[in-house]
Amino acid sequence: MKHITCIEDLRQRHMRKVPKAFFDYADRGSYAEETLRANRDDLAKIKFRQRILVDVSRRDLSTTILGEPASLPLILAPVGLTGMQYGDGEIHACRAAQAAGIPYTLSTMSICSIEDVAANVAKPFWFQLYVMKDRGFIKALIERAIAAKCSALVLTVDLQVIGQRHADIKNGMTVPPEWSLSKLFDFATKPAWVAGVLRGKRRTFGNLMGHLKGTDDITSLGAWIATQFDTTLNWKDVDWIRSIWPGKLVLKGILDFEDANEAAKSGAQALVVSNHGGRQLDGAPSTIEALPEIVDSIGDKMEIMFDGGIRSGQDVMRALALGAKSCMIGRAYIHGLGAFGGPGVEKAIDIIRNELATTMGLCGVNTIAEIDDHVLAI
Ligand SMILES: Cc1cc2nc3c(=O)[nH]c(=O)nc-3n(C[C@H](O)[C@H](O)[C@H](O)COP(=O)(O)O)c2cc1C
Repeated sequence: MKHITCIEDLRQRHMRKVPKAFFDYADRGSYAEETLRANRDDLAKIKFRQRILVDVSRRDLSTTILGEPASLPLILAPVGLTGMQYGDGEIHACRAAQAAGIPYTLSTMSICSIEDVAANVAKPFWFQLYVMKDRGFIKALIERAIAAKCSALVLTVDLQVIGQRHADIKNGMTVPPEWSLSKLFDFATKPAWVAGVLRGKRRTFGNLMGHLKGTDDITSLGAWIATQFDTTLNWKDVDWIRSIWPGKLVLKGILDFEDANEAAKSGAQALVVSNHGGRQLDGAPSTIEALPEIVDSIGDKMEIMFDGGIRSGQDVMRALALGAKSCMIGRAYIHGLGAFGGPGVEKAIDIIRNELATTMGLCGVNTIAEIDDHVLAI
């Protein structure tokens, strides 16, 4: 892996190793992908102040996330179908995060189930919740997360209706993957993926199978979500979830300061400024554009996390400088996983860690707590 120097290198290899339908599922965004692009473009516009002759020999990236120590201000975001990028992908990604000393978030739409991941990793992880119409199932799912000793519940609030991702329709993305004539050639050129995923024992939605009707026959993910996800979801449901979940609660998918103010009253400990990685409301602002107003309006009433477009340690530094306490990454680690499995996730985290340490050094900063807008050239 010594020639892998940045996340883009992992992305290129991910593209070569994983069938197009699954690579595109991870890589692409909704509709015209304006928001997907804005997430990256707006981060890149933010420039640093280069500072010199500051003793930066004591750089320390450690911090706390939801009150727990973390080796750097980074979290692996919930990513559906992770186990379709690499066999048992959720277990590999969770182990890599735990080895690196950062939190891992398991998606409701994971391939490996909560129980499966819990049985195969050393420490507690976070669980991400999508709310579906079948509330009995949702209550049971939260109870399963409690039984598995998950250390935080991440309630995703920006996917009541699903943004269309053209690539998924064009690629005929299905779960489990179907052998079709058009896919045969693609699969034939990806033998490692076929061996790990298609011949693996986990190939469908681990948390839903056997618990929710219709999950054994999901021909179109988008259409299935449209029938199952609860469009009535509202702030009262957050109270209902709080009444079942006794632990730390994170609201993920906030992009507007009024919603952030509401979130601060909800009893949740943290929020994630997120537009779902440009996969939902196309035409929404980039997350880095939305971040400062949210930080200003809620101050320290809640812990503010950030995601969307993070591909480097420089990007983490930018989000921290604008007031985020930590960042989630989605695609950055999925590219590592698709490229090399667990070691690829470790590599992605290492790349970001090293880039952040160097950026801090060149900006004359030794600790995460010192990072604020003084490091920016504006
Ligand atoms: C392939 C893929 C699947 C995702 N699945 C979920 C999910 O199941 N639950 C969720 O809350 N967010 C999901 N997200 C959004 C991520 O948690 C995160 O907000 C986003 O990836 C951040 O942007 P980035 O990929 O540019 O880092 C998904 C993102 C991707 C790329």
